[in-house]
Amino acid sequence: MDALEAIFFRQSIKNMRPDPVSRELLEKILAAGAQAPNHHKVRPWRFVVLQGTARDALGAVMAQALARRDPAALPEALAVERAKPLRAPVVIAVGVDKAVGPKVVEFENVCAAAAAAQNMLLAAHALGLGGMWRSGDAIFDPAVREALGFAADQPMVGFLYFGYSAAEVPPPARPGAEDRTVWRGE
Ligand SMILES: Cc1cc2nc3c(=O)[nH]c(=O)nc-3n(C[C@H](O)[C@H](O)[C@H](O)COP(=O)(O)O)c2cc1C
Repeated sequence: MDALEAIFFRQSIKNMRPDPVSRELLEKILAAGAQAPNHHKVRPWRFVVLQGTARDALGAVMAQALARRDPAALPEALAVERAKPLRAPVVIAVGVDKAVGPKVVEFENVCAAAAAAQNMLLAAHALGLGGMWRSGDAIFDPAVREALGFAADQPMVGFLYFGYSAAEVPPPARPGAEDRTVWRGE
């Protein structure tokens, strides 16, 4: 699959089969992430690959964190939060290194990690997998970040969900860039 085909036909896949994804494919996806542009070559992305029971553990932490953020949260809401990481066989948490040194800027590190995440979604699509980028309040929660091995104040760009799509999905119909573009000069 060429790059433009992957870009135009990738789409968020919500419903995935529980079938596992091979280590070989996951390593290709991670390597694709690591090809993203990054200023000062700091490679500021950090990937935590969660499969099997590691997803249950993350769900438990996310539910606890929600209960702490919102003590009035109903048991149903906590159950929904706990089940979130089980929506796909593989969840990759993408964290961002904080800026170190005089030249490195955290905003640029976040941009680079987001570029890595998009590379990973495109690679997954090209490899026949579904992917979905998800965030939610959990990625800003210090307890969730620490449970993933990140520092409490270390930014995350999201959770990437990967697996085989549960259904055939029609090709995406997204607007182009016309209404977001101004042309100047020649
Ligand atoms: C930074 C970021 C965070 C996102 N977080 C969520 C999320 O929490 N829940 C969700 O349903 N989709 C989330 N998405 C996916 C978008 O909803 C999705 O990309 C959008 O609907 C367009 O669909 P497409 O990816 O098929 O083009 C996120 C996307 C990005 C870039």
